[in-house]
Amino acid sequence: MIKSILVVDDDVQMRSALKEAVERMGFRAVMAEHPVEALGKVEAEKVSMIITDMKMPRMDGLTFIKEARKKVGNLPILVITGHGTVENAVEVMKEGVCEYLMKPFSFDSLTKTIDSIMARTCHNGNEVITDNDYIKNLIQLAGHVAQSDMTVLVLGESGTGKELLARYIHKSSRRRSKPFIAVNCAAIPDNLLESELFGFEKGSFTGASERKIGKFELAHGGTILLDEIGEMSATLQAKLLRVLQEKEVDRIGGKQPIPVDVRVIATTNRDLQKEIKESRFREDLFFRLSVFPLKLIPLRERPEDIKLLADHFMKKFSLELNKEISGFSDDAVDFLETRHWKGNIREFENAIQRAVLISSSELIGKDDFMIESNVYRGDTHSGSLKNMEMDLIRKTLNDTDGNKTKAAKLLGVSVRTIRNKLNEYGKNVPVA
Ligand SMILES: Nc1ncnc2c1ncn2[C@@H]1O[C@H](COP(=O)(O)OP(=O)(O)OP(=O)(O)O)[C@@H](O)[C@H]1O
Ligand SMILES: [Mg+2]
Repeated sequence: MIKSILVVDDDVQMRSALKEAVERMGFRAVMAEHPVEALGKVEAEKVSMIITDMKMPRMDGLTFIKEARKKVGNLPILVITGHGTVENAVEVMKEGVCEYLMKPFSFDSLTKTIDSIMARTCHNGNEVITDNDYIKNLIQLAGHVAQSDMTVLVLGESGTGKELLARYIHKSSRRRSKPFIAVNCAAIPDNLLESELFGFEKGSFTGASERKIGKFELAHGGTILLDEIGEMSATLQAKLLRVLQEKEVDRIGGKQPIPVDVRVIATTNRDLQKEIKESRFREDLFFRLSVFPLKLIPLRERPEDIKLLADHFMKKFSLELNKEISGFSDDAVDFLETRHWKGNIREFENAIQRAVLISSSELIGKDDFMIESNVYRGDTHSGSLKNMEMDLIRKTLNDTDGNKTKAAKLLGVSVRTIRNKLNEYGKNVPVA
């Protein structure tokens, strides 16, 4: 199957250059002149990647990326801009954008970039990296359940790899060559979610000028991922339950049910037991879904994976960003291992991506993570911030053989501040 790439740019020349590159590489180019048009096409055209400008009429690039993410989740995105500053890049990278290409660029670097994004996301995107015994066990279980058609409920906090695990199950199943379709129930308003999932017949309501095939039918033979199932309304929960029991869907306005063969994987980061107690989630649906629950744990509970994932993401992004980076300096490793990561792997991945982007040497240094310290300044982690401050003062005092005046000078603060801090920390600051 020929893969499609969606190109969004208001500049007619840039658009035709991008179109040419995309087509020469053997992909189908889906063109849009502005984000609003692009958002209409992104799902309908089943694109594998988006290439977008940042400064465009009707909607800016960042908003567009956020909107597109809501529709199609983890789709790789290449951002092209002439207005690039590091700050801008950082904003964009936070949205999990794959690549950042600055105008002007050569035809060659464009095709190389597209190539590496496609290679990564199409072959290697489904690898679950871990050295944690619990997760290893979980993957083994997932491999077993993949052999059946059982419904799977994937639990876990935001960004802990729920979708990755769902894809792993799909890829390990007999359904692997059939569609894997993800629907984010939280991103679609309830009245639209029903037609999204089950489709409708032409003329079934005002505005239904064409028949629409729902996601369940599109996933026939394959797997459907119902993301954030806890957000579904009671009505839709009842309809979903029927689909699971009868293995058939009703298009809105349809005359008879349509049989579907689809494995359902649902995810949630809500506590469904609690939702049931508070009558927001049907217990019978829960029992249907939770035949096989798999619970992912956050990064903060799998410290052994920090270095492993850091290396994995470092390799991935140095390839993509055309950087010759071979590893991390000791203080960078130290920083990564001692910093308080909330548990969201996407956030961790983005931090590594930014460091790869910023780094100017072969080894990523602690300084390349300075943005992370800035980002976290002022949020609720005052505990870890204090640790960092204490650490900094301790290290500086070590460097100056305990000379407070010199240390104050190096740190750009007054001697009194250093004394106050030392009093505040009490005996916790061992001076060499
Ligand atoms: N064990 C892992 N190995 C490699 N990459 C991982 C791993 N776990 C998560 N990731 C990466 O972290 C990112 C977030 O993972 P994913 O989208 O699967 O999480 P999620 O739980 O579905 O997130 P959300 O709650 O936001 O929907 C993805 O880019 C994914 O590839
Ligand atoms: Mg997800």
